[in-house]
Amino acid sequence: MKTALAAVIVAGALLAAGAAQANADLANKHCSKCHEMDKKKKGPAYKATAAKYKGKADAEASLLKAVMDPNGDHPEMTTKPSADEVRTVLKWMLQQ
Ligand code: HEC
Repeated sequence: MKTALAAVIVAGALLAAGAAQANADLANKHCSKCHEMDKKKKGPAYKATAAKYKGKADAEASLLKAVMDPNGDHPEMTTKPSADEVRTVLKWMLQQ
């Protein structure tokens, strides 16, 4: 019984790690040309953005709009991520 429970816990941890890795891969694919984890590149570091928007409930939605707006300040992303992909990366970025 204990072993089964431990197996479930390990499986859950592996799943969570896999999801985190998938998010990082998505960021690498679409954003890392201009953003890095803790260093300013063309755009601000993920950690700087997370700190700036910490505790703001609408951060994800307003950033999604800002990043996707073709007439806004954010440069065009040549890899053309979908809104869902950008939302996924933003969610992950705001947790850094
Ligand atoms: C071609 C370069 C480039 C790419 C690719 C890029 N960014 Fe940016 N990003 C910038 C620049 C430059 C800024 C600063 C100007 C601004 O705030 O809009 C910025 C700013 C941001 C900000 C901060 C906005 C704010 O109000 O503080 C977020 C969040 C962001 N980018 C998310 C992303 C995400 C997510 C991706 C990938 C899906 C991405 N960026 C891809 C250049 C890029």
